[in-house]
Parts: sequence; C-alpha cells; structure tokens
Amino acid sequence: MIIPKPVRFEPRPDRFVLDRHTSLTADPAFGEVAAWSRGELGPVTRGELLPGPGPGITLSVREMRPEAYRLSIDAEGVLVEAGDTAGAFYGVQTLRQLLPAEAFRKATASRELALPAVRIEDRPRFGWRGCLLDVARHFMPKADLLRFIDLMAMHKLNVLHLHLTDDQGWRLEIRRYPRLTEVGAWRTESQIGWNGVMDGRPHGGYYTQDDIREIVAYAALRQIMVVPEIDLPGHAQAAIAAYPELGNLGTPLQVATTWGICENVLNVEDSTIRFFQNVLDEVIDLFPSPYISIGGDECRKDQWRASPAAQRRIAELGLRDEDELQSWVIRRFAGHLSSRGRRLVGWDEILEGGLPAGAVVASWRDDHGAVIAARAGHDVITCPNMSVYLDYRQAPGEEEPTPFGTVLTLDDVYAFDPLPAALAGDQAARHILGSQCCLWTELIDSTRHLDYMAFPRLAAFAETVWSPPEKDLAGFRHRLAAHLPRLTALGVEYRPDEGPLPWQRRPGVPGRPEDTTEWRATISEWTRNIRRP
Ligand code: ACM
Repeated sequence: MIIPKPVRFEPRPDRFVLDRHTSLTADPAFGEVAAWSRGELGPVTRGELLPGPGPGITLSVREMRPEAYRLSIDAEGVLVEAGDTAGAFYGVQTLRQLLPAEAFRKATASRELALPAVRIEDRPRFGWRGCLLDVARHFMPKADLLRFIDLMAMHKLNVLHLHLTDDQGWRLEIRRYPRLTEVGAWRTESQIGWNGVMDGRPHGGYYTQDDIREIVAYAALRQIMVVPEIDLPGHAQAAIAAYPELGNLGTPLQVATTWGICENVLNVEDSTIRFFQNVLDEVIDLFPSPYISIGGDECRKDQWRASPAAQRRIAELGLRDEDELQSWVIRRFAGHLSSRGRRLVGWDEILEGGLPAGAVVASWRDDHGAVIAARAGHDVITCPNMSVYLDYRQAPGEEEPTPFGTVLTLDDVYAFDPLPAALAGDQAARHILGSQCCLWTELIDSTRHLDYMAFPRLAAFAETVWSPPEKDLAGFRHRLAAHLPRLTALGVEYRPDEGPLPWQRRPGVPGRPEDTTEWRATISEWTRNIRRP
C-alpha cells in the first residue's frame, strides 16, 4: 500500500511491533537520517529510539545505486540498507507508510504499532522529481512552506522549484536592493478569480535571507534541492515597481494586482543586466543548488518593439528580431551563472531565438520543446501543462473552486509519462532529467486551497517520476485508498473523489475554464517559434 509504488514488494508472514523500547541504530554515515527518523517516529513509539542491541530499527550502509534502498522487516526487527543518505531516508519514508495511518499524526494514544513483515527493493526511475510552487502570486508563509516540503518528501519528490518573483510580487530579500521587498513584496489588492473583480485587500510577504537559509537546510535534510526562480525579462513588474529604471516606460508602475501575461517587461540596458546579475549573486550565495532558474517565459515583446533603446540594441548587436534579443538577454545570464559554477534553467521559451550551451529546459508547452532540446543535447525537465499543471481544475462542472485551465483529473496525472513518446528508444532520452508538477497560485490564495489542488494528484505525479513506467490504475487507486487516511492524519485537506466539500467550493468566484481542444491549438501556436537551436 505504498505510494509511490516500490519496484519490488514482497509480503512475508510475521510482524514487528514498534513500542517505547524499540531501538534505532544507524551507521554514522546516516546520522542525519537517524535524527530525522527519531523526530518522526518518537511521538509514535513514545520512546527515545536510542541506539542499542535490543530489537529495533537498523540503518546500514551497503553499496547500492543512488537513492536506492532495501527494507527488510521480520519478527526480529527492521533493516534499512542504502548506499547513500537519500536511499536511507526513502527507506524510512516507506517504513512510515507500513505503519497504521495514525503514525502520521503528531502524537498518538497508541502504545504499540505493528509493522507487517516485508522485503522491499526500491529505487527511483528519474533523478529530477520536482514540484514548482508559485509563492509570488500568493505568498505562502514560511511555516506552511516547511509543511509542504514535508509532504513532498513523504512522496519521495526531491526538487522544490520555488517561483519567487513575478509581476504580482517579489518574495526574496535582496540586501543590495531593499526596495525589491519594501515595495515589490506588497500589492494593494488582488483580483478575485479571473474576471476583474477586485478584493480591495492588501496582500504580500517575503522570505528574509535567514528564512531562506532555514528553508534550504530544512529541505536538504529531507533530500530536497531548492531551485530558486527569478523570472525575467518578463514577469518582472514587481521589480520595475520597486526600481522604475528597470522598465521601458520611465513612468512609475505599481505591483500588478491582476492576472495574465503582462506587457511591462525589463529593458535591455547594461545597467539592468548588471542589476539582475547582482541579484543572482545573492541568490547564488543563498541557494547551493547547481541549478538556478531565470524563468524566461511569456515575455511580451510590445515594449521592446516600441522602445528606441531596445531597437538600437537589436541593430547594434546585428540581431534579427525581438526573439533574438530575448535570447541575448538569457545568454548574458547563462554566462554569468556558469562563471559562478551554476547552470541556468529556463522555460521552453528560451529555445526561441537560440539556446545557451549547458542550459536546462523546463518544457511546459506540450512535448515540442522537450524533444527539440533533448535532441540538440540539452538536459530537459518535462512539465507539460496539460498533464502536470496542478492548478488546473480536477473535474468539469461549476462546483470546482475557481475552475481554471483544462480538466486534469487524478487519473490523467497518473497516466502521464515523463518521457515524451517521441523520444522512446532515442539516445536523446537520456537528456530527460525527470519532471516536475507545477502549482501556480493566481487562483490559489490559501494553504487550504493549495491542499485541495495538490492532493491527491501530487501522489499520482510522484508515481510517474519514481515508479516503473508500467501503469496499473486500479492498483494505484487501491493503494491510494490506504494513502488518503495518511493525508487526513497529517491534516491535508485533499480533494475527495466525489468532488469538493461544500466549504471547498467558492460559489460565484469567476474562473477561466478552457476548452481542451482549443487550448491544445493555442499551445501549439505558442510553440511555433521553437526552432532547432
Ligand atoms: C509558465 O506556465 N508560464 C511556465
């Protein structure tokens, strides 16, 4: 009943009971995992899980592939074997799922919890098992973000792509440019739903650099790499509101209060490039991830077409058009990041006008960009919106809270294959690092609502990136029935299969439901500029 499904699961007769006398003994290499395990299992056993010779849990080093583990339980005890910290961590995550669901509560009245005897061999299918969280459109308080990291780790996801900046908010303290958060982190009000109704209520928030260090360390202890995204040259109105000299108009702007693809984009002055290189230097100091995202998506070119300075830049550089100008901007940042030992990640728009060497493409508009980029030798993360955008509505009909996007059911997410069909049997398939699901938050204004959109679809997504590719929907749903009580025990307000509970609906709030066929046509229109680099 494990999610994501392990590679091999062999039930055995017998059982082992955890109680307050249970010991936990770990190889010194797994000290961090042992400490984390004591924190999670201590309230369950009500014991200290001290090292000792008695019956208990042993975490042992053994040569194995990265992130792989073996979990053996019999009447004598529990043995987790792994070759690295991540493997040991995942072994204990699986162990938790073998306990009754109440083991996921912060405390339990039970004195003894039984584990079935099993032998499990497991390893992930992909190395990049991610989730994008948009904390720019709606800020997520730090405590809720830490909770979400725990939920990701429980599902063996290992990359948190944190979308920190957008038109509607800048969420990261930058010491050199304090107005980014003094001004850019706050907006006067927000659009309710999609159709222009405003709530008249200020919104905002940001993470201090100390918060970020804590978030990064907390995630690392749970084997999650945090990949920051500073979105540019589009999706940058909050920065322009803070520092108008970054924009094209020379007139003050406000932090955006409505949704959509905004026309206010960064200008292409050297001073603006330098500004963001300085921002990225602080980002690099805060985030040890080898990957840094600069977004690069949905940059409207209207202001560059109208701007004499941008046109001069195009002429001076001998560029063909504004797409190549965007590509020039991206290359400046790719070079800056690589001079500091980091790799640029960008959305598939960075393929338009040519791609810098070493850049990683996050392919969100169908598989088109993923296939082109992988065949050209670029590493790729697949996140096609029609399959893994978890902000899209989960069912047709009016009762979904603020229905948005096309219908993406739990079963649709389960059916997703991170490997584009066009790359099956192709050498280029090795460039698919994995996938990430995406939680954009224009219409998700609370952690409760985020729970509803993320779960249980995130559990289905976790299987697509971790488990072997063979699909068994009935088997998945059977295991999910055992998984939902774990989410309940954790206080996750997931979407019930029957549809939203009355308080999960938002009657009267306008959504933006899209017709699937028309939306597919729009996406392929958008990707027509993607050329072989
Ligand atoms: C995106 O959805 N604009 C990456």
